[in-house]
Order: sequence, then structure tokens, then C-alpha cells
Amino acid sequence: MNTFKRIGVIGSGAMGRGIAQLFAGAGVEVLLHDSRTEAIDQALAYNRDLLERAVAKGRLDADALAPTLARMQPAYSLEALAGCDLLIEAIVENLEAKQALFQKLEQLVGADAVLASNTSSLSISLIASACQRPQRVAGFHFFNPVPLMKVVEVVRGELTDPEVIERLAALAEGAGHFAAVTPDSPGFLVNHAGRAYGPEALRILAEGIATPAQIDRILKDSLGFPMGPFELFDLTGLDVSHAVMESIHGQFYQEPRYTPSALVPARLASGLLGRKSGRGFYRYVEGKAVPDEPVAPAPVLIDRPFWLDSRDAAVRDQVAAVLAVAGAELEQGSQPGPQAICLVTPLGEDASSLIARTQLPAQRTLALETFAGFDKRRVLMPQPALDPNLLAQARQALGADGVPVEVINDSPGFIAQRVLAGIVNLGCEIAQRRIAAPAVLDRAVRLALGYPLGPLGFGDHYGAEKIARIIRALHELYQEPRYRISPWLRRRVQLGLPLTAAEEGA
Ligand code: NAI
Repeated sequence: MNTFKRIGVIGSGAMGRGIAQLFAGAGVEVLLHDSRTEAIDQALAYNRDLLERAVAKGRLDADALAPTLARMQPAYSLEALAGCDLLIEAIVENLEAKQALFQKLEQLVGADAVLASNTSSLSISLIASACQRPQRVAGFHFFNPVPLMKVVEVVRGELTDPEVIERLAALAEGAGHFAAVTPDSPGFLVNHAGRAYGPEALRILAEGIATPAQIDRILKDSLGFPMGPFELFDLTGLDVSHAVMESIHGQFYQEPRYTPSALVPARLASGLLGRKSGRGFYRYVEGKAVPDEPVAPAPVLIDRPFWLDSRDAAVRDQVAAVLAVAGAELEQGSQPGPQAICLVTPLGEDASSLIARTQLPAQRTLALETFAGFDKRRVLMPQPALDPNLLAQARQALGADGVPVEVINDSPGFIAQRVLAGIVNLGCEIAQRRIAAPAVLDRAVRLALGYPLGPLGFGDHYGAEKIARIIRALHELYQEPRYRISPWLRRRVQLGLPLTAAEEGA
């Protein structure tokens, strides 16, 4: 149940006005302040317009309009906030500015008033360190647009009173938002969990494995992400995303899991920021991305049978069905015939390593993704020794039923396996570090990032043991601590437990 009577929101930009709208809509009185008077008026006008349109579209009861608007009032001076029992700060993302504001607020408000910050990257304990009563300071990190993104991180500073956290969580839940309570750690919960998607996509790009458009198409179609990582960079702005990557990497003392991409600085210097600058990983004309339609390859004669390494009946049936449409034969022997194009289905291993291990003929062997995605989009992964004509035959045959085929360069874990395993492994690390209990992590990530499953749910869906194999293969190939397995993942595989199983103290 909500225990706050009057909320003061400081900073009337994109976040402040959204927070005001959310709580006014939930029946709480809100005062909106900004150091620029015009920003307050603009925010109130913006919210009025938004709510009027919601009524016109039938999404808001007409009777609710006037009382909701009446609950949002301007506070043209900071002093006008004196009677508030909760102050939510959404000003510029700058530690000194926030600390100075909190010091002023402490002088103004009652001893029991709670001070919350909507910061997305600054330590709550550091903000609180400037206050006389740090126990009343907490993080209250919303996502944009606030009324629609139904999740908020309630961040517990080192000295925050547990009752403050409970009261903020109850307020958020009462307004229909999931309150993800989390300790004060870099990136909090959601921005930390998000480090495995965009940054790994940049790593794949940097290694020359595929183009941004290919990576986006593969991840959306194979794993069900609503947006590809490069579309997301362009939407958020690469400058903003890169600052988050650098901040989290720095705050974790150069932890290799979070290393930002060296591709980015040159792009930033060139103004390739995304939608807002008209060009990022895609080009934009009148706010719309110029489509990058893949060029259809010239048809070739399919004059070879195919051989498939997998003994999994379901996989064999799927592949045989596509090849039949192409009029190509799938050999049944345990070893390939002398003419066969050899399709291999590695888990985590790259095609070259698999060929070296199995002694299959390199000139006619390539990899096909069957673990993460086959129905909507197919991914073929040749290696440098493959005969180009045989690649052309494979590409045509595997797309004979009309499903688009992407050809990428040799990589451990193709693209989908690699990104999937990274997301799961990082989710395990977050659970291990007690940053969130499994259910909280998965729900927060789904709500805030729009993933079809949470990191741990993804792991259980695809099989923790297989995810562990992919991560170990990546680690083996790159020999980098970036890809080391999380103890949470290893233990649950060893014990045969689901990744979503909570642990005492989590
Ligand atoms: P914004 O730039 O749209 O609005 C900030 C407002 O604060 C401006 O109107 C500015 O005049 C005012 N302001 C600056 N210093 C002030 C001061 N000392 N006292 C009173 N008002 C002051 O910024 P936005 O996007 O709303 O972000 C606000 C905060 O929320 C930042 O800490 C940001 O990191 C965080 N945040 C932003 C998200 C986003 O997607 N935009 C998401 C989650 C958190």
C-alpha cells in the first residue's frame, strides 16, 4: 500500500514528466519542478496533451482526466516542495549536480521524507554520501517512456533503510509497475544484464563475421528479439550506449566481460550516432531506415548429394525436407560419400575446429545452424578452405523452401548461439553476485529490455548443459576471461538443476 502523500519531482524532462504522469494517474499528488520554468510548463502541457489523446482513443476514462490533471501541479521554486514526503530527482546525469540538489532538499523537507534518484549509472551510495541522512536515500530507476515501461529498479544504497525500499516498492506496485529491488552495483540490474547483447554483437562485427543488418536479422528471427542490437544502438544513440558500456566496464575495474568495442570511437567522431544524426549502422531518410535488401545470389546447378553430421532425427528430417524441395539427396551413411557436401552442426565450436577434430574434407564442409533458429532464417557458416561453388550449392539448396539464408564467416557459436550463451552466462553471474533473485532478474529484463525470455529462462529453455558447452567452446577458442563460465551455470549443470532455481541468500 502506498504510504506517500505528496511527491515532488525535480527535473521536468523526458523522465520527470513521465514519473509525474505515472503517480498522478495512480492517485498521488505530484509537484513538478525544474530549474527552467519553461520546462515545467512544457512538461505539464505535454502530459495534458498525452492524457487528452488517451481519452480520445478510449484508453483513459474521461472522468479520470480532470482529477489526474489536478493532481499534477507546478512548483516554480524548490521551496514549494517543502511539504513533500517523497522527492524524486530526474535532473541531469551528473554526480555533483545531484549531490548539491540532495543537500538543498535535506534542508527543506521533513526528517522522514525520502529522497530518490532516477539515475541510470551513478552509485546511489555516492549520491547519498553528500547527505546528512543517507539512510533515506534510494535509487528509483525508471525506463523511458515511464508510464509504458512497467518496471522500476528500486536501488538499495549501502546505508539505505530497508523500510525506505519497501515503501518505494509499494508505491511502484500500486501504480502498476514491477519493483525490481536491487543492490547498488554498476548498471544496477537491467543495464548490467543488457551487456551481453549489443556489446557481443559489436564484437561479432569487429571480427568480420557478419554485417550489422545480418546480425540484426539473425537475432530477431532465431531468438525472437523485438529489435536487433544495431537497430537498438541507432535508436538509443551510439554515444549514449557507449557511455553506458564505458561506465559499467570502468566501475567493474575493467572486467573483460564488459569490454566496450574499439569500433565505436571512430564512429562517434564521425557523427554516426544513429537515428538522431540521420546515420548510424543504418541510414535514415525522414526518420525511416533505408532498407538494406540482400542481393539474391545467381542460381547454380545442384549436382552433389549432401551429408549431415547430426544423428538427431528431428534435425535430419528438417534438413532432408528442405533438400527434397531443392531436388537434392541427403546421404544416410555415418561417413560422407566422396562427392557429398558435408553439413556440420557445431555447438559453440567454429567450423574450422570441427573439421580439424573430425578430419572431414575442408574443401567441401560447412556449418549449418540448427540449435538456435532454423524455421524463419537459416545460417550457413563456411570456412576459408571451402570451395565457393559448393557454398553456392548449399546456399541455394537450404533456401529452396523460401526461407532466407544468411552466409556468415567462421565463428564459434555462429551468431545466435554465441549471443544466447552470453546472455545466459551473464544472467547467471548476476544471480551469483546476488544482484537479483532469478525470478526478479528474468521479469525485470523481459519488461525493461523486451527480451522474449529472461536470461535464466532462456538458459532453461535451450538447456543449461548445452549453453555451458557453447560458453566453454568460446572460452577454449578465444582463451579470454571474457568467456569464462559463471559458477552459477557450472554448478547447476553439475547438479542437474534448473538455472532459475533460487539459492539461499539470493
Ligand atoms: P532531460 O534532459 O530530458 O531532463 C532533465 C531536466 O532537468 C531538464 O529539464 C533540466 O532543465 C533539468 N535540470 C537540470 N539540472 C537541474 C537542477 N539542478 N535542478 C532542477 N532541474 C534541473 O533528461 P532525462 O532524459 O529526463 O533524464 C533525467 C535523469 O534520468 C538522468 O539522471 C538520466 O540519466 C536518467 N534516466 C534517463 C533515461 C532516459 O531514457 N532518458 C532512462 C532512465 C534514467
